[in-house]
Parts: sequence; C-alpha cells; structure tokens
Amino acid sequence: MKDLLRFTTAGSVDDGKSTLIGRLLHDTRGVYEDQLESVRKASRDGNAEGLDLALITDGLRAEREQAITIDVAYRYFQTPRRKFIIADTPGHEQYTRNMATGASTASLAVILLDARHGVLPQSRRHAYIAALLGIRKLAVAVNKMDLVDFRREVFESIRKEFGAVLAKLDVEEPFFVPVSARDGDNVATRGARTPWYDGPSLLEYLETVDVAPAADAGPLRFPVQLAIRPNQDFRGYAGQAVSGRLRVGDRVLALPSGLETRVASLTGQEACPTVCLAEQIDIGRGDMLADPAAPPAVAREFAATLIWMAAEPLRPDTAYLLKHTTRQVCAYVRSVRHVVDIGTLEPGPAAELRLNDIAEVEIETHQPICFDPYRRNRATGSFILIDMISNRTVAAGMILDQVNTHRSRERQRAAGAVASEPTLSQPHRGLTVWFTGLSASGKTTLCRAVYERLAARGCRLELLDGDTVRKHLSKGLGFSREDRDENIRRIGFVAGLLTRNGVIALAAAISPYRAARDEVRASIGDFVEVYVNAPLEVCEARDPKGLYRKARAGQLPAFTGIDDPYEPPPRPEVECRTDKESLEECIAKVLAAIDRALER
Ligand code: ADX
Repeated sequence: MKDLLRFTTAGSVDDGKSTLIGRLLHDTRGVYEDQLESVRKASRDGNAEGLDLALITDGLRAEREQAITIDVAYRYFQTPRRKFIIADTPGHEQYTRNMATGASTASLAVILLDARHGVLPQSRRHAYIAALLGIRKLAVAVNKMDLVDFRREVFESIRKEFGAVLAKLDVEEPFFVPVSARDGDNVATRGARTPWYDGPSLLEYLETVDVAPAADAGPLRFPVQLAIRPNQDFRGYAGQAVSGRLRVGDRVLALPSGLETRVASLTGQEACPTVCLAEQIDIGRGDMLADPAAPPAVAREFAATLIWMAAEPLRPDTAYLLKHTTRQVCAYVRSVRHVVDIGTLEPGPAAELRLNDIAEVEIETHQPICFDPYRRNRATGSFILIDMISNRTVAAGMILDQVNTHRSRERQRAAGAVASEPTLSQPHRGLTVWFTGLSASGKTTLCRAVYERLAARGCRLELLDGDTVRKHLSKGLGFSREDRDENIRRIGFVAGLLTRNGVIALAAAISPYRAARDEVRASIGDFVEVYVNAPLEVCEARDPKGLYRKARAGQLPAFTGIDDPYEPPPRPEVECRTDKESLEECIAKVLAAIDRALER
C-alpha cells in the first residue's frame, strides 16, 4: 500500500502559493478534466500553457472575489510513489488561525517565499507556528525565480537568511528549492533554467522524505466519546484511540477516577470501537482510558503555548470554554509568562494578548483534564479556547507541562496576583433537567420538589424558572413565537453554562415549541426532558393565576393551549401525568432519570 504524506502550505499574500498547489495538482494529474475546462475558460492572464493555475487551487472562488483565500481546504493527489493530502491555508496575516488548523495534522510544511521579497515577518511566523504545532520537517520553496532571472545569488542569500531563522526552531534540517510555480521549474520536474541547482524537485522531495510514524505509536490514550448503556446488562464506551492500541485483556486505567481494570471486549469498528470493561466503573464522556504503565498527567493547572486568534484581546479575568479531546471545561488564563517576539523568535515581555500573538501562559481549569505535553502527543496535548458569549474559537493551545501549583501560587501571591485560594467542592457531572408543559400543569411545583431532594444530597444546583427568568434575563420579551424561542434560547444558554461547570440545572418553562427545546438539547448534550403532562381541561380548572379565564375572555392573546399551540415532546426521558400520579410518584420518576443520566 502506498503511504500517505499530509503536508500544509504557508505563504504570504501573492507569494504564489495557490499557483504552486495548482501546479502540483496539474502536473500530477490531480485535476479533473472538467475542472481544467472551467479553468481554461476563466484564465485571462494565462501562462505559457494558457492556464492560470491559481484558479485550479481556488476553484474560482474566494481569492478572486475577496482577494484572499479563507479557511482551510484539503486537496488530494497522488503519484506512483505516494499519496498526498495538502491542508491549504491562506497566507493573509489575520488568517494565522487557519494555518494552525491546517498544520495540526500535518507532518511537513511547505513554506513559500517570493524571491523578490525574501524573508518577511510572515515567513518567520509561519515557520514558528509550524514548529510549535509539532512539524519537524520544513520545505522552503523560493518562488518566482523567473522574475529574478533564476539568479543563484538570490536563492543562496535567502537560503542563508532563512536558514539562520529556522536554526533557532526545533525542526530538522530544512529543504530549500528554487522554483517557478507559474512555469513549473523544479516543482514536479527539474527545470533547465537552474543548472546550478542539483537537488531534487519539490515533488521528488515530497515523494521521498521520511513520513511520520504511525498514529498508534505511543502509550494508549482513549478519550471516551460516549457511554453506551442500552439496558442494565450492558455498559460500553465508544471512542477513538488517539494513540496506542486497545486489546482485549489489556489493563487500562480509567481517568480521572484512577481505577484500574481490564478490557473485557471490543465491538464495532476497529477505528472507533465500543469498549467493555471487566469491572463496572463509572465513566462518562470526556474521561480517558490510558496505559497504566505510562499514564497522562491529570491536573487542573498547566503551562501552555497559546496562539491568540481573536480580534479582541485576552481577558484574564474571564472564563473561557476549553475543549480538550472529548472534554469541555471552564478555564482561566491565569498568567501570561511572556509573548514571543516574532522578529527575534525570542521571549519578549509579558503583555496583553492580541490577534496572532504567540505566548506562554498558565491555565487553570475548573475540572481536571488528562493530558500529555504536546511534544509527546499532539492529540492529548492540544486544546482550543472558546469565548462563551460569542462561541468563537479565540485561541489554539499546546500544553507544555503541568504547573507546580503550590510553588506557582506562592510566586503569584508574592507578586500580589492571587488574593485567595479558590475552593472548589468535589465535582459531579453537570446536567440540565428541562421541565416542559402547559401553564398550571405543575412544572414549578415538581421542579422545586426535585430541587429540594437533590439539595439534601449535597448536589450543586440551580433553578431556572420561566416566571422568574421573564422578570430578569428575559424582561421585555413577549409571547410571540420569536420571543418565546428567544426566551428558551436564553434559559438554554444559562443551563448549558451551568451544566458544563458540573451543576445540575433545573429549568421549568412552558417551552411550547419542539424545535426550540430540541435545539437546547442538542447544544447541551447532557439533557433530560421531563414532560409535565396534564390535560388542558385540568390545567384550566386549576387556573391558579386566573390566566386561562383571562385568555378565554380574550384579554390574554396567544395563550398557550387556548390560541397558541403546545407541541408535546415525542420522546421525553420522563413523562409525569400530574392529574393521575401523586407528586411523590412524579418526583421519584424524575430522580431516577437524573440518576441514570449522571451514571452515563
Ligand atoms: S414560554 O412560552 O416562553 O416558554 P414561560 O414559561 O417562560 O413561557 O412563561 C410562561 C408564563 O408567562 C406563564 O406561567 C404565565 O404566567 C405568563 N404568560 C403571560 N402571557 C402568556 C401567554 N400568552 N402564554 C403563556 N404564558 C403567558
């Protein structure tokens, strides 16, 4: 079987990166005929062959319209020797984040320089980010050699200058090649116009360079994606090993609980199996099965390199959502140790983090995560930070190592940075329990009773009641479809935040529309829907607030159940018939469902 090389490309605007990729695809026949046809038609300023190769790469879209390419595109081609996947990332300064995305799975980076401009700040940044992301092999294509008459001195002086920059990075000896992507010199085949160059063409190099070791190298790390429990007799965990291999009979360590057991069986696809363990231990999404002989760190505090990707600067006192393997936790950037000076690639003074800054920071999470330093494991050593309000990715992070909490706290306290030790009680899993039903169906009564039972057990709780929320968070919203949807979205948002922080959020709102409830369920995941059901006649007879009477009299338009629909949930986790079952029976059903969900 042919092996596969994943590589990424980076260049500044107009370095000719699209043309280079187009050239590679074209010369290896990676372009489909119909695509070529449309490129022929669209080529205005064609080259010798009458083709504008950048058009192939950009598929006639963004770069033409907006003058920059956005986002990462994956392109495939192959030669008789090897298959290739290119993560094509745009070179524009503000799109550093795309480069980070594209580079995260690549084992090699092709960095493009324009022979006329030489080494730009962007070139240093690209090389630095590639190295940060664990890419050890760099190929530097000095492009547009045709525009400098293929002069050897130009190539050699760039090689010398950039070689000195790269020598400071943790990368192997870089490969330099003079090319003309437009004309094809030294891209797929060697060109006649650089007789002084005796190295391989770029493609020859890509075909023969050593590829990264197989992904299953290293000790076992199996982040659990899903606990599967169709009935009392079966408990399995689905996920993907990001390193190492799972075998029946192997001993595994479940983290963060620290319990050790054996793999009893593996079912499903090999790449994404369902694991059953010999002993019943409580594991859920975000937990990890690991090699007991070489476990990852389990900690709430660690140092990391951050690439800041947002226009708004880092807010040190704000909680971000940290996504790491299959786990999401709340996190603070506790301190910025230093910001890297891109000019010198040396640590500069600590400062505010702004767009494209690269910094070494200390991070603290609310719940422990299981990680390895990024150098040892790209999957368990990387994370992203998300702004909880805008839901945008603001940073990519590479974990350096655990922080010695005590010493680092002492240091910070000495500097007056830490006022007091945060006290966090033993975390339990977060969950949203959503009570839906007609007005006067008994949502609030049931919800409060459940709250009290859970409080007696010492659970961390919050109650979000529609009536209360409408006085505060949703003040000003009415009862049109849009306003109700907005109300539910807000309650759902707060419930989601609480859930992520290990709180059991109990929400009670009519929430009459199925789509809005389903949206909340999808965004939270850990979600139990309780349908508080009583026939309309019963609710109307109860009418504790006299609202049904008003609605019938036409004084309350769009009242749910009267002249606005209520869409019952088709498959709620719990249904309580409050006209037939006692409050005690209803409470018991809800508590049982909560226990099941917490066990998952
Ligand atoms: S929801 O429709 O947006 O889910 P929510 O539970 O938050 O409703 O608020 C419902 C409460 O608002 C009711 O308990 C009632 O006191 C009051 N209310 C006022 N007008 C209406 C209406 N037209 N329909 C339903 N509830 C109303």
